Amino acid sequence: MSANLSPIDKAKFAAAKRAVALIENGMRVGLGTGSTAAWMVRVLGERVRDEGLRITGVPTSTRTADLAREMGIKVVTLDEAKWLDLTIDGTDEFDRDLNLIKGGGGALLQEKIVATASDRMVVIADPGKEVAQLGAFPLPIEVIGFGWQATRALVEEMLVSLDVLGREVTLRMNGDQPYATDEGNRILDLHLGRIGNPRQLALVLNQVPGVVENGLFIDICDQVIIGHADGRVETRDIRTGSVERGRVELAETENLFADLGE
Ligand code: A5P
Repeated sequence: MSANLSPIDKAKFAAAKRAVALIENGMRVGLGTGSTAAWMVRVLGERVRDEGLRITGVPTSTRTADLAREMGIKVVTLDEAKWLDLTIDGTDEFDRDLNLIKGGGGALLQEKIVATASDRMVVIADPGKEVAQLGAFPLPIEVIGFGWQATRALVEEMLVSLDVLGREVTLRMNGDQPYATDEGNRILDLHLGRIGNPRQLALVLNQVPGVVENGLFIDICDQVIIGHADGRVETRDIRTGSVERGRVELAETENLFADLGE
């Protein structure tokens, strides 16, 4: 039942519900990764089941692929879909220009490829994800395992000349083993505190040999939908500059929560 959900989950659900309303029959949809995106996949599965909505989903991780299949969503690879109408994903931070830090869940590489291969990227978030300046959330970068310590040293050296507050770089762990991405790579988390010039940082990071991709999404996100625990939703569009406010009826979700065993 919705009453059992935490306020943050209600906020994530509200954003997800609003975003899924954008999906139309026949669309090819990129499915993001993370707890907010998981709500979106569940709500989308509900529409597929209850309305007979016909869509094709391209997941951004094995986790999302598993959940999408479980929810009865048809899943194909990006190469099969070729191009996407819409990608809906969560974020770790977004700023006023809708630039993002992503990758807290370790799926930044597929997420960036999928979002970039889409006509439109819609980010769904709770209000806590909005920041005046990116960087409080550690910036993940995906690096290959070969020579990763040399890669880390080069990244640390590069950071010295950049406008950031902190420069600590840590290897993400999964228990006592390095965290492995879906591609078998590693993640370095950059504890920067504040990123003065995200565009520049995104460019220079990808010049370091061994860095596969970074979690800065610059000029990729088109819209952000911010959900609130009381069901209010706000949609900001970076292209038009428009802000739309609405409301999602949380009581309507009780079947879904019950289905999920809440
Ligand atoms: C996954 O790699 C991430 O990019 C997630 O999209 C991001 O961390 C947001 O996750 P939550 O919705 O769980 O906060």
